[in-house]
Amino acid sequence: MTVHFIGAGPGAPDLLTLRGRDLIAASPVCLYAGSLVPEAILDHCPPGARIVNTAPLDLDAIMAEIETAHAAGHDVARLHSGDLSVWSAMGEQLRRLREKDIPYDVTPGVPSFAAASAALGAELTLPGLAQSVVLTRTPGRASAMPEHETLTNFAQTGATLAIHLSITNLSQVVADLSPHYGADCPVAVVWRASWPDQRILRGTLGDIETRIDGGITRTALILVGPALAQAGFDDSRLYASEYDRRYRPQSAESPWADWQAGDD
Ligand SMILES: C[S@@+](CC[C@H](N)C(=O)[O-])C[C@H]1O[C@@H](n2cnc3c(N)ncnc32)[C@H](O)[C@@H]1O
Repeated sequence: MTVHFIGAGPGAPDLLTLRGRDLIAASPVCLYAGSLVPEAILDHCPPGARIVNTAPLDLDAIMAEIETAHAAGHDVARLHSGDLSVWSAMGEQLRRLREKDIPYDVTPGVPSFAAASAALGAELTLPGLAQSVVLTRTPGRASAMPEHETLTNFAQTGATLAIHLSITNLSQVVADLSPHYGADCPVAVVWRASWPDQRILRGTLGDIETRIDGGITRTALILVGPALAQAGFDDSRLYASEYDRRYRPQSAESPWADWQAGDD
């Protein structure tokens, strides 16, 4: 018996890995995390599977479901939205499973920041503009931030920021970032990336608040940084014609001249 933690992706049911789909299909129990996991993914459950929405449950009740499945020798597909590495509450569940010696494995999913970037048709790391992406959030009712993980600290790097769980704090996000990035810095808000009703709002730190309407609540990502302009950047060296590299040696003297594909 194994508990399979599976990243269910950002919303579109076909943004699920083949491994995730097959594990769901092979598990007689499916625990899924509420409204962010699309119902269509549950169609992969086998006939007669026990399917439980864990949104109204607390951690003890979720563990009780898992322990019952464990006692019966039934695998569990445990679905969380996006990928499990960020804001999935997987860590506390794994800690309990380790305490109880219940086996588990983890299958990654498409994170929402990747789905939002795809919706924008944007690369978030562009030569000369940004080479880092910070996945972060602002404090919420139930979640304080560690002392140094502030937007103003991250802003000092100039990196592209992918700000989760924060659409209701947009005014504070703008106030914190404007002194560092400037009012002209591009911003994109992507609501329900990859869902059929996905919406994209583009603007700048100076005007994004005026572009948001009351329909943009909860499931939205705020992306900020000069790379969002998708302009004013250098070509990468990767495909530069004169760049001497392993896969494209430029001369017989190149250190890569004798290198064969498959070496090292
Ligand atoms: C609890 S976190 C889950 C993050 C998830 N584990 C991931 O990999 O993206 C929920 C937040 O992720 C973001 N999010 C999740 N799905 C999204 C989507 N389809 N479009 C835009 N933002 C999304 C929103 O900021 C939302 O408030």
